Amino acid sequence: MGTMKAAIAAPLLLLLLCVCSSAALGDSSSSSGGRPYHFGEESFRHWARTRHGRFRVLDRFADELIEDAVGKYRVAVLEAAPRAFLQPSHYDADEVMFVSEGEGVVVLLRGGKRESVCVREGDVMVIPAGAVVYSANTHSHDWFRVVMLLSPVSTPGRFEEFFPVGGDRPESFFSVFSDEVIQAAFNTRREEWEQVFEKQRKGEITTASEEQIRELSRTCSRGGKSGSSEWEIKPSSLTGKKPLHTNNHGRHYEISGDECPHLRARNMDVGLANITRGSMMAPSYSTRATKIAVVVQGSGYFEMACPHVSSSSRRSSREHGSRRREEWGREEEEEEEEEGHHEQEEEKSRRGGYTQVRSRIQAGSVIVVPAGHPTVLVAGQEENLAVLCFGVHAGSDEKVFLAGSNSPLRQVDDHAKALVFGAEAREVDRVVQAQTDSVFFRGPHSRRDYYSV
Ligand SMILES: *[C@@H]1O[C@H](CO)[C@@H](O)[C@H](O)[C@H]1NC(C)=O
Repeated sequence: MGTMKAAIAAPLLLLLLCVCSSAALGDSSSSSGGRPYHFGEESFRHWARTRHGRFRVLDRFADELIEDAVGKYRVAVLEAAPRAFLQPSHYDADEVMFVSEGEGVVVLLRGGKRESVCVREGDVMVIPAGAVVYSANTHSHDWFRVVMLLSPVSTPGRFEEFFPVGGDRPESFFSVFSDEVIQAAFNTRREEWEQVFEKQRKGEITTASEEQIRELSRTCSRGGKSGSSEWEIKPSSLTGKKPLHTNNHGRHYEISGDECPHLRARNMDVGLANITRGSMMAPSYSTRATKIAVVVQGSGYFEMACPHVSSSSRRSSREHGSRRREEWGREEEEEEEEEGHHEQEEEKSRRGGYTQVRSRIQAGSVIVVPAGHPTVLVAGQEENLAVLCFGVHAGSDEKVFLAGSNSPLRQVDDHAKALVFGAEAREVDRVVQAQTDSVFFRGPHSRRDYYSV
């Protein structure tokens, strides 16, 4: 009896899954689509917000479909107003930062030294966990925006910010130590110590005078002095280097572990795809890396093939609108049981079948693309779509482009073509060789109305 019940319950569950996932898909034109791979503005929390700027952190990647690959990382965005100054602090996390807009100075206090680094739009820099850092927007009119990937060093997916100097907010972490400890440690009376360490009342993002900014920028450098080690902290311009791929439809830049030992040590790389408006990036996947992609400019949409939801849900979502299916979902369930189709359905879902994950994306959207998952990015008609990609588990990763002149599907040997494709070699060639560009293509204009904002 028990097993009978289970046998009936399984297809029922499958059906429920259909309804839920297709409801989500049906909604994919809104920012809630694409779960659990896509995150919109609403998934960020403010850790700091003042007149002079804000620091926002994306929720943890907690869904089981992505947690193993990226659950230990966090995405954050810093936005600093003209001449904003950020109080010194350290994180219990390594930070890979990308300057998406503006210019600034980043001062690191570590190893008994002060390193003052000038950064500007397009730069990537790694800040090791525990370094005490303060920074400022050195421009007097433009905002300074930084996208970062944090890799917590003690608790996967959780990190904190520690301020040595403060007031009410932020509080100095020293304030919890007892008077006798503070007095002995600093060799100073507690009251005097407080005057210095606990009287900063303006918050963690303040503003500096023109002159203070001038002084801060005067001493900063781009690194690379002779005799400096490869482990020196210095910015590398991602968008200033030669693109890996480029044509009229877009440019793809990358900084790999080979070029940056700090990235290699963390098994990461950083890339940027700048897709021309109205164009698209070829369907592609990464062989090993999972990509955490952050849209830094423009808008468009992405589609991904996901094998983790049953094929039956995909089939239904293609064939029927979600509302309609909800109406007759119950009927279908009975029908299938009568015809004994449910076993077949289950079998099919185990063997393969993919769900389309799709969502509109815009500046600030975050997408997680697991290794091996074919994905497409399409730029909107108005503006270029620029997507920053943090690759994790990136050692010996390769990107495979599934259409265009560098597609592996062009390499199938002539004798195997009929076997593989079930069509004549000549027909196969006509189709797999029709796209003569590589990596970036003209976009799907014909579907413009369907996807338009
Ligand atoms: C993308 O390319 C356009 C056109 O060259 C450029 O104006 C824009 O700044 C680029 N975006 C990024 C983020 O590099």
